[in-house]
Amino acid sequence: MKDFTFDTIVRGGTIVTAADTYKADIGINGGVIAAIGADLPSGETEIDATGLLVMPGGIDSHVHISQPSGDGIVMADDFESGTRSALLGGNTTVMPFCLQEKGISLRQALSAYHDLADGHCYTDISFHIIVSDPTPQVLGQEMPALAEEGYTSIKVFMTYEELRLRDDEILATLDAAKRSGQIVLVHCENEDAIRYLIGRREADGDTAPYHHATSRPIAAEREATHRALSLAEIVDVPIVIVHVSNRQAMEEISRARARGQKIAGETCPQYLVLTADDLDLDDFEGAKYVCSPPPRDRQSQEACWTGLETGVFDLFSSDHCPFRFDDPAGKMNEKGQQSFRWIPNGIPGVATRLPILFSQGGKSGRIDLNRFVALTSTNHAKLYGMYPQKGTIAIGSDADLTLWDPELKRTITNDDLKHGADYTPYEGMEITGWPVRVLLRGKLAMEKGELVMDKGYGKYLSRNRSQL
Ligand code: URP
Ligand code: ZN
Ligand code: ZN
Repeated sequence: MKDFTFDTIVRGGTIVTAADTYKADIGINGGVIAAIGADLPSGETEIDATGLLVMPGGIDSHVHISQPSGDGIVMADDFESGTRSALLGGNTTVMPFCLQEKGISLRQALSAYHDLADGHCYTDISFHIIVSDPTPQVLGQEMPALAEEGYTSIKVFMTYEELRLRDDEILATLDAAKRSGQIVLVHCENEDAIRYLIGRREADGDTAPYHHATSRPIAAEREATHRALSLAEIVDVPIVIVHVSNRQAMEEISRARARGQKIAGETCPQYLVLTADDLDLDDFEGAKYVCSPPPRDRQSQEACWTGLETGVFDLFSSDHCPFRFDDPAGKMNEKGQQSFRWIPNGIPGVATRLPILFSQGGKSGRIDLNRFVALTSTNHAKLYGMYPQKGTIAIGSDADLTLWDPELKRTITNDDLKHGADYTPYEGMEITGWPVRVLLRGKLAMEKGELVMDKGYGKYLSRNRSQL
């Protein structure tokens, strides 16, 4: 019997991390990276990476899966389909949200989500907890205890009537998070302004999907971003401003940073390549693009690109939140066809996030390979307490590797994405550069667009506290 030095060798590729680009082999033992070097000795499994880029697996830290979404509305992905699609798109870790519905404890919410997820995942996962009911028990007991158990991030909403917190509740939650050492993600839109505008639009008979965008203007996002940053300053705690869509909200982040606040900023593909005009398509097709904040205009796209390039944004996430289009439990529900108010918010995107940034950012020369890795993997791992186990290629790190063919040309088509939605907002987009192999903790999981592993290999990750 032949003795091998490594379980697996990835040989001859160009390694790209957030810091460096160089040619070397990677030796893997027991699911972790054991050696990096030239001409490493033999592995039981040899993977030829000649001509390919070898990057840390993508980490998508903003994903909604199996989230309760209101009367009769069903999210299109469960943990099996959501993580399958993520893997095909080059991701090895995703971070879905665990929603606390009003009246239940965080532990009850977590237990229900674990029941849905455990044993069903194709990628590793870890939950952010959405706090919608910040009772004294939640703030004083559950948050500190859960932080100790590795649930080190929470999200709060300033919009959506059933989820939003008032300012005093946000302050109390930020204060509790500071004491427990949890990082808080904030969805910044002014709910009162939006509800007022929705009422106005409906009174004027403007009920088509396009008016989702006109009732959620930039000013409503900018104001809420400013308020969230001010509340965080008052409590003196770092926060993450998620899914930023435009320059004015970006300026709020930059100004807060200039005052000395620690902030992380996130944007998403929809703010780079879609606009509000997409919501104006005929035959209710605009509903396919309804998400919050809504996609804006060309100038906002340009601003978001600049923010990715210059460091206003640390994170590029998908905000994957899929609903089927042609489905009474999805975008085309009965009430949604009467008014945009009832169209479920969210679009699919976990499989297309990486190729879109790689292709569009690379083509324009705005996002170099190292910045690409930082924005799509390393910064997520650092911010959410997974580094250096995840998010880099280093000895001792999990062997989560995505091998890219930088010249491969593909056209995005829904059939290839294997998510639960019946459409992609990016149908027909021409892409150069695509992930061709993925290893999850050393195990070959995807090859040439096909899954080559069984579901359930993906495991739940307990996390450290944020580096912010
Ligand atoms: O429209 C969106 N973004 N839906 C997902 C929920 C959220 O606000 O992140
Ligand atoms: Zn949100
Ligand atoms: Zn979201």
